[in-house]
Amino acid sequence: MKFNYIQKTPLYDAFSEIGKRIFLPDGIFYWSGRAKKEADLIGTIGSAYAYEHDFIDGGRSEWIPCYLKDILEYSSLAVKEIIPYASIGGLNETREVWKQWIIRKSLYDDKSEKSLLYRLEKYISNPIITAGVTNGIFQSCVMFLNPDEIIISPNKRWGNYDNVITKFIGARIKSFDFLEKNHININGLETAINETAKIQEKIVIILNFPNNPTGYVPTNEEAKEIVNLLRKSQRNTGKPIIVIIDDAYEPFIYSKNVLNRSLFYDLHQLDENIIPIKLDGITKELLIYGGRVGFITIGIKPSWIENDEQLEMLKSEIQNKLEGFNRATISNCNHFYQSLTHKLFSDKGVEHIIKSREKVKQLLEKRYKKINAEVGKINNPNISIDPNSGGFFLFMNLNPKKYRANEFADYLLTKYKVGIIPIEKLDENINGIRIAYCSIDLAEIPELIKRINLALNDF
Ligand SMILES: Cc1ncc(COP(=O)(O)O)c(C=O)c1O
Repeated sequence: MKFNYIQKTPLYDAFSEIGKRIFLPDGIFYWSGRAKKEADLIGTIGSAYAYEHDFIDGGRSEWIPCYLKDILEYSSLAVKEIIPYASIGGLNETREVWKQWIIRKSLYDDKSEKSLLYRLEKYISNPIITAGVTNGIFQSCVMFLNPDEIIISPNKRWGNYDNVITKFIGARIKSFDFLEKNHININGLETAINETAKIQEKIVIILNFPNNPTGYVPTNEEAKEIVNLLRKSQRNTGKPIIVIIDDAYEPFIYSKNVLNRSLFYDLHQLDENIIPIKLDGITKELLIYGGRVGFITIGIKPSWIENDEQLEMLKSEIQNKLEGFNRATISNCNHFYQSLTHKLFSDKGVEHIIKSREKVKQLLEKRYKKINAEVGKINNPNISIDPNSGGFFLFMNLNPKKYRANEFADYLLTKYKVGIIPIEKLDENINGIRIAYCSIDLAEIPELIKRINLALNDF
């Protein structure tokens, strides 16, 4: 495949060596596509096919993928919906329902913003299906980072980013203190951008709201500050800014006073070369953690192309590169859960899904309120709680002069039988515990916080 259009975009300039190199070769697909149209005898597909009656007693005379009969006891989905390989980029039906889902998620309070919807409908790449959001994070980071290159991330981030970025790719994380005086630390982000711009021809940032481990979501004001800072930085440096948006916990927002949709949408609206990459998935959003279906969607800028034909070519070039990544890593994603996803959306409808998830959201919201109320009662100058409005967690900072997070977690577990996750990275100004209230019943929250408080007092 030729990459005539993508090569002219700042996206390509920002690619790593692998990002530039990777593509999905025609090979098997070229020949199997031709065989489907031209051949009488097709020997191209690498999966066993037969007439059903030749491998199942009482089977039909249909030519289908061979399967073990007992499998059908566990699902009402048809053989063709679960057994064959899914296409490399994902099932088209699933990708299409997810694209519409992304568009639906842009709506604040169901009010439509016409220009935003128009841009979304037209200028996003077709979502590519990855093995969960984790795989989307992996692919996006590999696509933009060479070893030793820098990606900016707040100090309070999901620990797995470090595995992917530092340990796997050998790139570097420029960390900044996420929060300052209970607000996002815009100055810290700005300094990190300026320092990166001095030594790199691109700026790559990864953000995650609602945040793991803090539960922080920016207020509308703070979101505007982030957007304005990125605009200013892009104009001043002239360098593309890639913003990888990890939307794993996207729908779980419990406060009316914060940004109620992904930052992806605001960045996607910008004409500057601030390129948002949306990572989301059924795992947390639809509460199907083990389903391992995630999506990568890239925001395209209208200025990159001259007409609709070029836009379609650009989209297929982006798709080919992402399919190249899939092929080289996971090959393709779990067929069963892709089928389940598109059937859920097509049979039940988006509004029904949102409504049926609401009960879970309300459960979590009650716990969020309760746990914040309970920790608010603790009177201890050596702890503080990060601002939190969503997601699954809350983060309690511990004064390192009084408590070391790892030791405290051990004490809490052995003496009070309470399990939490300590995060102790003193070189990045972090020392505290992440409490996953998503997995604690409302009625047990007062007891949980009581025990934590006892441990704080007698540690
Ligand atoms: C911030 C963040 N992103 C991504 C993931 C992983 O999502 P998935 O299960 O879809 O791979 C997690 C899971 O803990 C997470 O906390």
